[in-house]
Amino acid sequence: MIGERLLKAMNDQIKNELESYYLYLSMVAFFHSRNLDGMAHWMRCQAHEEQIHAMKLFDHVIDRSGKVELQNLAQLKTDWSSPLEAWQDAYQHEQLISGNINDLTHIAREEKDYTSEPLLAWFSNEQIEEEASTGKIAAEMEMVGDAKTGLLILDRELAARVFPAGSPLDPVAYSQAG
Ligand code: FEO
Repeated sequence: MIGERLLKAMNDQIKNELESYYLYLSMVAFFHSRNLDGMAHWMRCQAHEEQIHAMKLFDHVIDRSGKVELQNLAQLKTDWSSPLEAWQDAYQHEQLISGNINDLTHIAREEKDYTSEPLLAWFSNEQIEEEASTGKIAAEMEMVGDAKTGLLILDRELAARVFPAGSPLDPVAYSQAG
């Protein structure tokens, strides 16, 4: 069983992860609109990961006999002045999510809910990786500046990210389904 305070915080974090999914999906559309299909692909993979994060918490709450309460998602940003600004926002967003995970871990400890520690440690490690990857791309975008050749090279590089198997956001996977 999970206590009320931690349950509320986990339901809030499910919302935060789904808002991350929503934000990144907006970035997918933005990158496609700028013909940066490699960046759009990378962000599709990232959006898929955010769904997984939400579902990890969703299942944890259910496994511990808590009630999942899905909340309204906020309308997040849908347009950017440049691809650089989008990557900077992604990096900033990941730092915000890291703060959310820290708060969640803090609440779990105050509530002496040690059962959730392995899951929260997984999330903390994941945040290190996500801050590192988005921060690196944002820094590379800054280096590229207005150089179109550099932008195209980076776009091609980011196209190489591999979708998790069977991802519902992978056009190849969903074109073969249903
Ligand atoms: Fe689920 Fe990108 O944090």
